[in-house]
Amino acid sequence: YDAVDIIRAQRDGRAITEGEIRWLVDAYTRGYVMDAQMSAFTMAVLLNGLGRDQIRVLTDAMIASGERMDFSSLGKVTVDKHSTGGVGDKITLPLAPLVAAFGVAVPQLSGRGLGHTGGTLDKLESIPGWRAALSNDEIMAQLADVGAVICAAGTGLAPADKKLYALRDVTGTVEAIPLIASSIMSKKIAEGTDSLVLDVKFGSGAFMQDIDRARELAETMVALGTDSGVNTTALLTDMNTPLGLAIGNANEVRESVEVLAGGGPADVVELTVSLAREMLALAGQPDADVEKALQDGRAMDVWNRMIRAQDGDPDAALPTPRETHTVVAERSGVVTRVEALPFGIGAWRLGAGRARAEDAVVHAAGIDLHVTVGQSVAAGQPLFTLSADDESRFERALGAVEGALEIGDAAPAASPLVRERIT
Ligand code: URA
Repeated sequence: YDAVDIIRAQRDGRAITEGEIRWLVDAYTRGYVMDAQMSAFTMAVLLNGLGRDQIRVLTDAMIASGERMDFSSLGKVTVDKHSTGGVGDKITLPLAPLVAAFGVAVPQLSGRGLGHTGGTLDKLESIPGWRAALSNDEIMAQLADVGAVICAAGTGLAPADKKLYALRDVTGTVEAIPLIASSIMSKKIAEGTDSLVLDVKFGSGAFMQDIDRARELAETMVALGTDSGVNTTALLTDMNTPLGLAIGNANEVRESVEVLAGGGPADVVELTVSLAREMLALAGQPDADVEKALQDGRAMDVWNRMIRAQDGDPDAALPTPRETHTVVAERSGVVTRVEALPFGIGAWRLGAGRARAEDAVVHAAGIDLHVTVGQSVAAGQPLFTLSADDESRFERALGAVEGALEIGDAAPAASPLVRERIT
């Protein structure tokens, strides 16, 4: 095969073959095909698309580039969740222990944040002592004993994707459905979970602003999972408004612990419960009373054991910020809009996120909202508080969130958080 021939074919809309796709991915992973060539190829995919069979072959080739994990010796059903990412999305934290409370094994191999969306590992690293890196043996032992693991995905899973994703990030080719679907699903299939629930987000704080594109992504990923023998379903969920009140790292852990204690913001509880039901249905427990496990402490119990198993102290104080700045309402009225993307960018500028993969995050930095959409407020009432380690961060963060929280005269019509279910 020849890389230039394959690029030309994809550029001109001629269907490339299974052999060509497998060769290209393998040759790129080994360094024979150059970054320049692969970036031309990914741009041609972004512009011309790929057929379902081609996406399946691409995914399979990326899986074949690395190792596959195998949980079959556990003797437990395994089920995982993946979110396409959003602002304030801490759902993995309460969800994994909640589902594990029903005797199911939950291997949550997670990532770090880049840009305005946070990363699950960054949030958990706010907990003193907590360790993200586990060996495969440690993962197996913890799944057998505690049932839930949230840890860093090893570098052995789909190395082709690692290289390709970094390339797409700097060549404007992230937003192609065939590339996103194969990227996410190659890692999830290689991880070896029996079942998978996808939380595919749409709206201002999501990858896909548009619900029709989010649906297409969800359908593509569900088909890829199902074809590979992974029971896969997806929920399409609204990411126009931040999830919950906390956006950051330590504050998101705090909010997750509130949910595990039977409280917490209604939207975080709703999505946690919806995803838990979905996961447990795939694991053969469609009637599990998940709300009860949040109320009676069973989910909290698994959380405490899960954090301790990874050397964290669930009772330790979380980091607190050196500086805070609270914004108050200029007028009385009703909160009509809290826009996810500007608040995500604001928290990022405060230090909660990173601009480059090698940057460190500030665990106490972020934004705490004090109001939700539909709530009445009086002039002078606190709307949100910015937290940072350095006052100089406030100006740029305030610039990001300017106009992102609107107060009007009438409450907007409520829109459902979980919009569709895709099987
Ligand atoms: N997350 C991934 O892992 N890959 C993508 O392409 C997009 C989001």
